[in-house]
This record gives sequence, C-alpha cells and structure tokens, in this order.
Amino acid sequence: MNKNIWDFWAGRYDRLWVQKYSLKPTRDLVIAELKSILEDDLRGELSLLDVGCGTGQLLEDIQRRIGISRLTLTGMDKSEKMLAIAAEKLNNVNLLAGDALDLPFRGSQFDILTCCHSFPYYSDQIKALREFKRVLKPGGVILLIQAAENNFYDKLIMKGVKVTTGKASYPSNAQLGKLAQKAGLFLKEQKPLKTKFFMPSIILSILQNGD
Ligand SMILES: C[S@@+](CC[C@H](N)C(=O)[O-])C[C@H]1O[C@@H](n2cnc3c(N)ncnc32)[C@H](O)[C@@H]1O
Repeated sequence: MNKNIWDFWAGRYDRLWVQKYSLKPTRDLVIAELKSILEDDLRGELSLLDVGCGTGQLLEDIQRRIGISRLTLTGMDKSEKMLAIAAEKLNNVNLLAGDALDLPFRGSQFDILTCCHSFPYYSDQIKALREFKRVLKPGGVILLIQAAENNFYDKLIMKGVKVTTGKASYPSNAQLGKLAQKAGLFLKEQKPLKTKFFMPSIILSILQNGD
C-alpha cells in the first residue's frame, strides 16, 4: 500500500458504500454537535478547521445546513487529489495541503477543530493531538470521530478495512482518552454513532483545550 492511497481513493470517495452507513451519519452527528456549540457560544464569528477534510463533504454540509454567517471555514488534507475535488465543490473556504503532524497554521487560531475518519492514519497520534491543541484557542473544542477498536468484532472488521487503507491504528475509547491526556487535552465526552448492527464502533470524542 503506497503513501498516496488517499490520492487513489479521491475520485471514488464520494461514491463509496461506507458513505451510507458511516461517513454520512458521521457528518450528521458532527453537524448536530456544531449546531449545539453555536447555540451555546454567544461569541460572534467562530473559526473552524477540518483536518483531513478529504473531498470537502463535511465543509459542504456545514455551508448548506448551518451556513457561514458565523463560521470561517478552513480545510486541510495531505492528499492533493482529495483537495482538488474539495476545491471544485467549495466556495468561501480556505483549502490547503498539509500534514496533521505539522499543521501549517500559527498557534491559537481556531475555535473548533473537526477531524473525521482521518486520525487512525496518522503515524504519530500524540503529535497530531499536540498540534491540534497548539492551533486551538484556549477553550477551543475538537470533534474527533473515528472507528474505534473497542472489542473483538471491531478488531476483525477494521483488519479488513486496513486492506483498503494501509497502515492504521483505531484507538479504543480508553486508549483515545489516554492519548488526549498525554497531549494535554481534556476529554469532555465520548458518544457512539449508532448505525447498523454490522458496523464497527464509531466514536465521537469531544476534546477541549483547557489552557
Ligand atoms: C477516510 S478519509 C476521511 C475524509 C473525510 N474527513 C471524511 O470524513 O470523509 C481520510 C483522509 O485523511 C487524510 N489524511 C491521512 N493522513 C493525513 C495526514 N497525516 N495529514 C492530513 N491528512 C491526512 C487523507 O488524505 C484522507 O483525505
């Protein structure tokens, strides 16, 4: 499996079968969380960074379902081909290439960071979480959603998934909690995404930069 596997998937990504049971429900859950954050946060404009934004589906959904009157949107991904597809769909979004392990942003810049189904592919997950913390403003929130190997069934399914993605690590709820702690982030909550019985655990971890 080469390092540009996501370039390979880019043109096929929006039509993959996992859209129905994993990726679309993921976006729905993240949108619901974002709406609740915006309701509770009385500040005016908020800046959001989507790390590993892929073909820009979440950013497109945010624009359509939440609007951009209060949100400044930025998307970042390592795959140029994913970004090229995102760029075809999106207006009024800053899109740039970069690595989650070395984010191309100055510190304390974003209020909200989303990261959907990208974290398992990072070679150094603590480093990525430290980068997330660095670019977040004090009190900033991370919505991190990923498949989690919480039990034997999850491990079996994700072993099959790895055949299509290459090397990956799907931390369990407890492991993610430890990673967050080591990176200096506060784990507020973990919410399971329930779709079909045959799907593996997919967990939304809500983390906060407590600085
Ligand atoms: C499964 S796709 C998820 C795309 C999108 N977030 C979604 O939910 O559909 C994983 C994405 O993570 C990106 N990615 C993998 N490793 C990365 C890294 N180190 N830095 C930034 N992006 C990365 C890939 O290029 C790919 O677009």
